[in-house]
Amino acid sequence: MTNLSFIHRFEPATRLEAPPLLLLHGTGGDENDLLPLGRMIAPGSALLAPRGKVLEHGMPRFFRRHAEGVFDEDDLRDRANELADFVGEARKAYGIARPIAVGFSNGANIAAAMLLLRPDVLAGAALLRAMVPLSQAPNADLTGKPVLLLSGQSDPIVPRENAVRLQALLSERRAEVAFHALPLGHQLTQTDLTVTRRWLDTLGRKPLAHAS
Ligand code: MLT
Repeated sequence: MTNLSFIHRFEPATRLEAPPLLLLHGTGGDENDLLPLGRMIAPGSALLAPRGKVLEHGMPRFFRRHAEGVFDEDDLRDRANELADFVGEARKAYGIARPIAVGFSNGANIAAAMLLLRPDVLAGAALLRAMVPLSQAPNADLTGKPVLLLSGQSDPIVPRENAVRLQALLSERRAEVAFHALPLGHQLTQTDLTVTRRWLDTLGRKPLAHAS
């Protein structure tokens, strides 16, 4: 479908009970990047993968930044709302349930911002190498929302203290946070896929509080 507000790829579900995933790429990625990962961690799920609209030296991202780890928060707020609106449009166009976001790096950061700014849009989120997205985080009600947070103990981009702060911030808003600091750097590895798949499998066995 081409008339939605983001360039994207959509793969329909082959197992209707599998939760749809919203796949959000890292800096320099695009809508194709995470489809293989999505197929591996959630076989049979519908996959919705938009391309970030901001270009940094030609590399797609989901929002502007002033420097590495220093975000343009006004832009981030606008873009998180725009992406949340796109999810609503895509749900109608494709007839899918509220998705679980799976974001890597920049994609994880906008997913975290969406959780805080538009909590109703996502059924949950797997945040791979995410940071605290907003210095003034809204007091969103995330009661029962499942969130997986995977950080890398030797990640040169996300300091450990920042990932811990994100965990606290989401837990204070009553999300059900599973936090793992893995002995890894910033890049994703097979371990990330294994842990994320297991987490999604566990969710599939409980009713999602916010799935409809
Ligand atoms: C960001 O800008 O979102 C983070 O610094 C991660 C990155 O994209 O490098």
